[in-house]
Amino acid sequence: KKKIAVMTSGGDSPGMNAVVRAVVRMAIHMGCDAYCVYEGYEGLVQGGDLIKRMQWNDVRGWLSEGGTLIGTARCMAFYERPGRLVAAKNMILHGIDALIICGGDGSLTGADKFRAEWPSLLEELVANGQLTKEQIGPYQHLNIVGLVGSIDNDLSGTDATIGCYSALARICEMVDYIEATASSHSRAFVIEVMGRHCGWLALMAGVATGADFVFIPERPRDRDWKADMSTVVRRHRELGKRKTIVIVAEGARDKDGTKITPEEIKDLLADKSEGGLALDTRITTLGHVQRGGTAVSYDRTLGTLQGVEAVRAVLEATPETETCFIAINENKIVRKPLMKAVAETKELSKAVDAKDFEKAMGLRDTEFAD
Ligand code: F6P
Repeated sequence: KKKIAVMTSGGDSPGMNAVVRAVVRMAIHMGCDAYCVYEGYEGLVQGGDLIKRMQWNDVRGWLSEGGTLIGTARCMAFYERPGRLVAAKNMILHGIDALIICGGDGSLTGADKFRAEWPSLLEELVANGQLTKEQIGPYQHLNIVGLVGSIDNDLSGTDATIGCYSALARICEMVDYIEATASSHSRAFVIEVMGRHCGWLALMAGVATGADFVFIPERPRDRDWKADMSTVVRRHRELGKRKTIVIVAEGARDKDGTKITPEEIKDLLADKSEGGLALDTRITTLGHVQRGGTAVSYDRTLGTLQGVEAVRAVLEATPETETCFIAINENKIVRKPLMKAVAETKELSKAVDAKDFEKAMGLRDTEFAD
C-alpha cells in the first residue's frame, strides 16, 4: 500500500486547507494511506508526532477554514544537507513513498533539490549506520509533486496560484472601505499591499478598484516618478474626483533599485509648497489581513482539483518522471515541469519597460482611474 504525505510550506495562503483535504481524501479513495507532515519542512526534520496518519474524517470542515491547519514554517535546517538527511531518514522510518508539497517557488525548489539528492542521502544513511540496506530497499526514488500555494500569484506557468484570488478579493474589499472615508473627507490614501517580488496583487487591485496610481516591482519607475504621479493625480482631481488612491506593492522600487516607500508618496501628495498637491493624506498598510481569512470559492475549487490531480500524478509517476507541479492553464488542470517554471519566473520578474508593459496589459495604466 502506497503511503502519500502532504505538507504546506512557506507563507500560508487561503486554499491550502482545501489542498490537504483533497489529497488526504483522494489518497484514501485510491486505496493509499494518507499522512500529513505538520509545520512544513520542520515536521520532516523533526519527525515523530509531526508526521501523522490521517483518516477521512480528520479533514472534515477544512474547506471553510483560513490559513493552514497543519501549520507551516520557513525551515532553516532543511536548507542544509544535514537537515535533509534527517528528513530522508524520518520519511523512510514512517514508510512515506511520496510527498505532495503546497508552497511557493522557494519551497518547491527545496523539494526538487531534496529529490535530486535522494540517492546520495540514502547512501549516506546506510554508510553511517542510521538505516540498513533492507530498510532503504523500497525507497530508491523519491516521488514529489508540487502545488503552488501563494497569495502573490508569482509562479510562471500557471494562471493562478492557490490563494491569490482570496487575497485580491480582500484587498478590493479593504480599498472599497477606505474609499468611502476618503471621499467623505476628499482625502488621499496610500495603500501598501503585499508583494515583495511580484506586483500582481497591487496591479490587479489597482485595475479592480480604479486606483489613481500603482507602484509594482516589475516596473521600476523613472527617477522622475514624482512628477508623473503628481500630473496624473492633479488631472483626476480636476476631473472632479474627491478621493485619491495610490496602491504600492511592498517591493516597489525606482530604476536605481531604491525602494519607493508609502511615506515618500504621502509626502508628495501632501506637499503644501507652491505647485504641490496639498492633499490631506493617510497611509494604510493592509498587512496580514490579506493573507489570513477564508478562501474565496475559486481558491477552494482550485485547491481541491489540484490536490486530486497531485495524487494522480504521484500514482502515475515513474523514476524517469521529472518533478512536476500542478498548474491551471486556460481553466484546465495540468502537470508541468517544476524547475522550468522556476527558471521562467526568475526571467519574468526582471523589469519590463513601459511600452511592453502597457502592451501586455492592454491598457495604459494612467487612464483608468475611477
Ligand atoms: O508569501 C508571500 C508574502 O505574502 C509576500 O507578499 C510578503 O512580502 C511576505 O509573504 C510576508 O511574509 P511574512 O509573513 O513572513 O512577513
